[in-house]
Amino acid sequence: MDKIRIQGPCRLRGTVRVSGAKNAVLPEMAATLLLEGPVTLRNVPVVRDVQTMVKVLRHLGVRSLKLEGNSLSAEGGAAGDPEAPYDLVRTMRASILVLGPLLARLGRAKVSLPGGCAIGARPIDYHIEALRRMGANVAIEHGYVVASCRRLKGAEIVFDDRTVTGTENILMAATLAEGRTVLENCALEPEVVDLARFLNACGARIDGAGTGRIVVEGVARLRGTAHTVIPDRIETGTFLMAAAATRSGIRVEQCDPSHLEAVLDKLQECGVVLRRGPDSITVEPDGALRGANVTTRPYPDFPTDLQAQFMALAARADGVSIVTETVFENRFMHVGELRRMGARIVEDGQTAIVAGPAPLSGAQVMASDLRASACLIVAGLSAEGETTIHRAYHIDRGYEKVETKFQGLGARIERIS
Ligand code: EPZ
Repeated sequence: MDKIRIQGPCRLRGTVRVSGAKNAVLPEMAATLLLEGPVTLRNVPVVRDVQTMVKVLRHLGVRSLKLEGNSLSAEGGAAGDPEAPYDLVRTMRASILVLGPLLARLGRAKVSLPGGCAIGARPIDYHIEALRRMGANVAIEHGYVVASCRRLKGAEIVFDDRTVTGTENILMAATLAEGRTVLENCALEPEVVDLARFLNACGARIDGAGTGRIVVEGVARLRGTAHTVIPDRIETGTFLMAAAATRSGIRVEQCDPSHLEAVLDKLQECGVVLRRGPDSITVEPDGALRGANVTTRPYPDFPTDLQAQFMALAARADGVSIVTETVFENRFMHVGELRRMGARIVEDGQTAIVAGPAPLSGAQVMASDLRASACLIVAGLSAEGETTIHRAYHIDRGYEKVETKFQGLGARIERIS
């Protein structure tokens, strides 16, 4: 049970490079099940969720699967029994992304039903409903999604809510389906667009990714290719929040500012001075830091995956910030821990009212999920004294070498194994 220890307050300086996007590479790894021939993914973040997906794909019989440095190579297609077991899926919900590709490629799949998680119930009913509309028989048996079909058929799919992995699962399934599939009210996230770009390079016929309406013409087969994964916009945003909360000046490189419009606008509304480059963002030091109101919504609005980190910033900002979470029903687990550090936060259902600036003091705190642990790092960097974050394994799920990167920015942060 690793811990992360921070001596605060820290002034960050220098440059940090962003890794590839966890939430883009996970569906792209699942998509290798659809392919024939060699495939290479570059700019792959070496994080625990990627290592879990490697285990899932190996279990499904993907051959010559290698993760070397930040490159993943494999022979496309599944050779084994199309079952994703409970022991792997329970550690990473995104394993559900193998369901669509297995069904499309092999005509059958058995995937452990992901349970709820710290941030919400997170059902997969939209995924299942859409696959049934494409002609699959889908049942829940003994905790598993058991699905089969002769060949998936194109269909009109209208999602009740914008769902990221739901859109990705059906997008992948539709690439090898018979005929045309139209996805309405689908997710617009850059990770969905990157998946479509990858699949089109493999011979798929996908139009409209990044808009609310995606059209897929099914094809008979897909062949492997080489693809470079987009930068991680949530990791980028985390470094920006850390710099703003500590009034530091840093440069974030190998990122894509165009994926963070709503976040950059919000930071500027808080008084943070930013300079954008084609693949970099520079935060000026000693900027003012005013409170602001944030409401999380699907892309292109403010991302729920940066809500917790923004709350740590708001605790240090002048004035009141009202933070409203609309995507997940239980994503304020970090509030209690921030209060332990001295933050002044009142919760009211899906809204938290943050009164700043509060002088944060270092404390023993507990990480409850991936983004809550990032929030506690941001708070620890701006707090007086020593902060120890327990259950640091959460952060390793989605941040590559987090303490090394912050040490590179001059932070006094270390891992206690
Ligand atoms: C993706 O999760 C991300 N995960 C999450 O990032 C992110 O928080 C989320 O999108 C929202 O941006 C990956 O990409 C691997 P959704 P996903 O389906 O796809 C409801 C992180 O920190 N819903 O877009 O699971 C659902 O409960 C993680 O990196 C249904 O009701 O999220 C939620 O309220 C955390 N039925 C809303 O829709 C369904 O079948 C949006 O969820 C599907 C979703």
